[in-house]
Amino acid sequence: MLTTRPRGTNDILPGEVGKWQQLEKILRHVSRLYGYREIRTPIFEHTELFQRGVGETTDIVEKEMYNFTTKGDKSFSLRPEGTAPTVRAFVENKLYAEPQPTKLYYIGPMFRHDKPQAGRYRQFHQYGVEVFGSSDPAIDAEVIAMAMDIYARLGLKDLRVELNSVGCPQCRPVHRRELQNYLQGKKEQLCPTCQGRFERNPMRILDCKVQSCQELVREAPTIDQYLCPVCRENFQAVQKQLTALGVDFHLNPRLVRGLDYYVQTAFEIVAQGIGAQSSIGGGGRYDGLVEQVGGPAMPGIGFALGLERILLAMEQQGLSLAEEDRVDVYLAILGEKAKIPGAVLAQKLRQAGLAVERDYQGRSLKAQLKSADRLGVKYTLILGEDEIKNDQVVLRNMQDGSQVVLSLAEAAGYLQQEISKEETRI
Ligand code: HAM
Repeated sequence: MLTTRPRGTNDILPGEVGKWQQLEKILRHVSRLYGYREIRTPIFEHTELFQRGVGETTDIVEKEMYNFTTKGDKSFSLRPEGTAPTVRAFVENKLYAEPQPTKLYYIGPMFRHDKPQAGRYRQFHQYGVEVFGSSDPAIDAEVIAMAMDIYARLGLKDLRVELNSVGCPQCRPVHRRELQNYLQGKKEQLCPTCQGRFERNPMRILDCKVQSCQELVREAPTIDQYLCPVCRENFQAVQKQLTALGVDFHLNPRLVRGLDYYVQTAFEIVAQGIGAQSSIGGGGRYDGLVEQVGGPAMPGIGFALGLERILLAMEQQGLSLAEEDRVDVYLAILGEKAKIPGAVLAQKLRQAGLAVERDYQGRSLKAQLKSADRLGVKYTLILGEDEIKNDQVVLRNMQDGSQVVLSLAEAAGYLQQEISKEETRI
């Protein structure tokens, strides 16, 4: 038990963390290109925020939240998603009083107590964006295009944008009634979860993954037949913009998504070949949510991408992200008298912007060179008692074995130059 991590969680080990950092760097870069600023909210919130925000009848709130109470009987939940907390922070900090739209992004862990499987974890990471203050269909199209831009930069292929309009409080009740009428006589044949959904959230039955439910709803009325003129016109405008931006999409009138706050545009990005958990991102418009959480009436739209699933899809497609945690130079320190000058040199090199690894154990030159090889460094500096006497250090090129003697004072500058010749440093 002591040495076992909780089910559905992952350790990101030093060997893998480079690709996470690289992915995060790309996400931050693209966020800036599209005008988003980062927001960091707490990892837990009042349970009520998710009950009201995400919806009481969603699987997330009904079954998957990590809830806990503290002294005074206050109930908190680990955040299962980032939209409700962002909306809460937007309202609480009165960001709505600033010029709109407000464009925010976040990267961080989310928690859902679901059955773990490949691509589905109890602690996972999302990158998400939220835009407040604009109901222009141009922003709907732009956020979808932005998500696809991110995937394209990562080299991901064979992705599909599934798009739907889930209507609004005017048209959705009509569809809901029609759907219930249609399913009334078939209720017993639905899976136990969908039987529960029949009264509370019948639309969710439409995208149930259970085969028998899928068959039962094959001919069921879908929302596209019931959209009010405003939603219909809006949906057409979003599609027109997407086409203009060169984003391919697939209309899926059964796409409902598992969160209650959506109105009009809803979308999911699906990757082939990563197993059952194929949704690598999803989002939509949530125009009533800010008001529901206690703020002014203000439209909103956003998406979140699952970082584990992105990395899985990349692995599946043979794509890798360059590691950045490379060591520039190994410092071999030989003999007692070299210890302090060695420590000083290592410090100087690091202050000059070089990544330095060194020996701390007073090992032989052979052992230290072996460590340097294992790290894959191109350069090793060798500092022994003879070198110290002359204020010098030996620079060894590990690839061809050639050596040059440098003065201690010029070592950092020389190395910097050599390394910058090979690549542009960050
Ligand atoms: P979501 O569809 O629940 O939407 O999650 C977004 C993405 O998070 C999914 O497409 C998937 O890639 C990833 N994800 C979800 N659950 C797991 C899990 N258990 N393990 C691994 N990855 C997972 C939302 O969370 C909305 N807040 C998105 C949004 C933002 N809508 C508007 N703004």
